[in-house]
This record gives sequence, C-alpha cells and structure tokens, in this order.
Amino acid sequence: MFTQTLTKKVLRSPLVDLLTGPHGVDRYTELVDPIWTTDARARVVDVRRSTPRSVTLLLEPNAAVVSHRAGQHVNLTVEIDGRRHTRCYSPASAEGAALIELTIGSHDGGLVSNHLYRHARPGMVLGLSEPAGEFLLPAPRPRRVLFVSGGSGITPVMSMLRTLLAEGHDGEIAFVHYARTPAEACYRTELAEMAATGVRVLHGYTRSPGGELDGRFGLEHLKIAMAEPDAVYVCGPPALVDAVRDHCPNALSESFVPVPFVLPDTPSGGRITFRDSAIETTDDGRPLLDQAEAAGLTPTSGCRMGICHTCTRRKHRGAVRNLTTGTVSTADEEDVQICVSVPVGDVELAL
Ligand SMILES: Cc1cc2nc3c(=O)[nH]c(=O)nc-3n(C[C@H](O)[C@H](O)[C@H](O)COP(=O)(O)OP(=O)(O)OC[C@H]3O[C@@H](n4cnc5c(N)ncnc54)[C@H](O)[C@@H]3O)c2cc1C
Ligand code: FES
Repeated sequence: MFTQTLTKKVLRSPLVDLLTGPHGVDRYTELVDPIWTTDARARVVDVRRSTPRSVTLLLEPNAAVVSHRAGQHVNLTVEIDGRRHTRCYSPASAEGAALIELTIGSHDGGLVSNHLYRHARPGMVLGLSEPAGEFLLPAPRPRRVLFVSGGSGITPVMSMLRTLLAEGHDGEIAFVHYARTPAEACYRTELAEMAATGVRVLHGYTRSPGGELDGRFGLEHLKIAMAEPDAVYVCGPPALVDAVRDHCPNALSESFVPVPFVLPDTPSGGRITFRDSAIETTDDGRPLLDQAEAAGLTPTSGCRMGICHTCTRRKHRGAVRNLTTGTVSTADEEDVQICVSVPVGDVELAL
C-alpha cells in the first residue's frame, strides 16, 4: 500500500512531469508495461467462463485504481476495433480484495459484454474509473441481512456477502438468487460452500425446475428466506426489484437496465446546435444523446441512464431538463449528462 501511494506521488510530481514533457510520464512508462500509468488501469490476470452466458475477469489494478466499497460500480473502458467503449460494472470481489473480480453477463446484440465474453484473455488491459454508487452496506452492519439478486445482478450483492463474511459477520444472512437454469446461476459452487457455513442460500430458476424456490419472488419466498430482516438489498431486473420492494419497502435496490424515461408530451421545438460539428437540428423531445446520434454524431456514452457520466458534455448555452431529477438548468457553460437531458428551447452543445 505504501509503495503504491509513493509510486502514485512520484509519477504525478511536477518534476517528473517537467522531465517527461511534452508527452507526460505515461507515454514512456506504458511502453514498458501498459498498466504503469497515472490513469487507473487494470490487467486481466484470469478469465473464467463458469456459466454458458457469463465471463468472470480477475483484474490486477495499477496504483491509480481506487478500491471499491461493496456494492459500488466502476466504469470499465475497453477498446474495440480502435474505438474506446465504456460500460458500468459492479465488482463482485470483497472490499479490500487484492484483485478486482467482474462477472459480465453476455447480452444478445450487446457490444461490450459480448466482446469481453468472447475475447477477454489474460494480459488484456482495461481502463477503470473511480468507484461510485450509493448501493452500500451501512456501518454498523445490520444483523439480519437478506440479499436478493437476479441474473448478472448478483455481482454487487456477492461483493456485500463476501465482505460481510470476510469481516466475520456473526448475524444471519440469507441469499436468494434467480437465474434461468442451474447452469446459468453464477457463483453456485461458492454459494453452496457458504451454505455449509451457515448462510441461507436459496435459488429460484425461471426456465427450469430444481431450485429451492418455485416461481417468482413474492411473500412466499420472503417467508422461506428470512422473516423480518433488518436490511434487504436487491439487484436485478426492474420487475424483481419492484416485487421485492412491494414486500420490503425499505429495501435498497439497484438495477442494471434503464427505467424508461417519461419524455415531454410535446417537444420544445427549439434549435439544437452541435457547435463543434456545425450541425443543427430541431428538438424532437428525446434526450440530447439520442438526438445527436440521429444527427449522425457518435458521442461517447455508457449506461444511458445518468449513472456513469461518460456522456457528459459542455452546454454552452440554453436550458435543459434532467429526466432523472426533473431539474431545469439554464446556466451557460455548464456540463450536462446528455443521455438524460432534454432541451427546453434552444440549446448549444460542445459536440
Ligand atoms: C450500475 C451498473 C452496474 C452494472 N454492473 C454490471 C455487472 O456487474 N455485470 C453485468 O453483466 N452488467 C452490469 N451492468 C450492465 C452493463 O453496464 C451493460 O449495460 C451490459 O454489459 C450491456 O452492455 P453491452 O455493451 O453489451 O450492450 P449495449 O451494446 O450497450 O446494448 C445495451 C442493450 O441493448 C441491447 N441491444 C444492443 N444492440 C441491439 C440491437 N441491435 N437490437 C436489439 N437490442 C440491442 C443489448 O442486448 C443490450 O441489452 C451494470 C450496469 C449499471 C448501470
Ligand atoms: S451515458 Fe452514463 S451518464 Fe450518460
């Protein structure tokens, strides 16, 4: 840890910057090793394909990577055919683990998930952002904890579960996971081992029999898993999150798929000017990201739901409404997340 902090300090020092200018120190160090940079990067050191529709990557972070807290996500950047693409992933590893573990479910037609599913190999270098997110375990830890996950939503709750066990949590833990079939259930072997040490592990399969739970989450499943938990964490498709919240209104939740936005009834009809590319278009009511893409531009984007900040662009002037908060901002020269911003009149963007 001390060596990492020292390396970070030295690499970022003004003297090193001066000596290595104009390109900066990274240009030279990455020739020796692509993760010797002041940018947060990680090297894939192991690739496991333990289910037919997911890939698990073990990443060795460089000194610039900030450790995550259980439940948080990181923006992962990968180069595909010469273009960099960013998506959010929640590490499944415990807080403080030496290696970062990501489990990525492959989506039909999905760009990054399929690329990693098919091509991830040891030695591959990936970019990582600082961890973020409020899907977190509280301190002090609750005593009776229920985790519920569906599909690849298992990752942040797996991190929480591993963290609690590593801390020697001595309360009760129940873990309910829904997958299509037993073969597609991630971490089945590890969860079975945890069950032997006292964690109550229950599986429900939506496309095959054989789980301890039949059908979808409801009161019945809740009663079997844990009556009156102190804290409930759920991550999965919106339908699962809604079902859990129906019975556990205080459950902390996360979903990997965007909730459909409520778009304005009538578009503002204002002029959108993409200043850098000298393109103008008339507002059709959709988020600026969609309208930029419809105009033939290819702005960087990640989550498309206001989480990752990859799409943030400078708004030179004009008013926009943030679809997730409802806030209208009118300031000139401000940064906006264009995936969740709709124009309220004329808008001029750096794009
Ligand atoms: C906070 C957060 C944490 C996350 N953590 C994880 C995690 O730990 N593990 C994980 O697996 N995922 C996680 N995700 C989801 C992840 O960020 C990506 O959304 C997911 O991997 C899909 O990315 P992609 O590039 O493969 O799909 P994209 O190319 O971005 O496509 C998005 C969706 O559109 C569909 N699609 C794409 N092209 C087409 C097309 N031509 N026709 C029809 N449909 C199409 C795809 O099926 C996909 O579902 C997380 C998301 C968030 C917001
Ligand atoms: S694409 Fe993630 S915040 Fe806009």
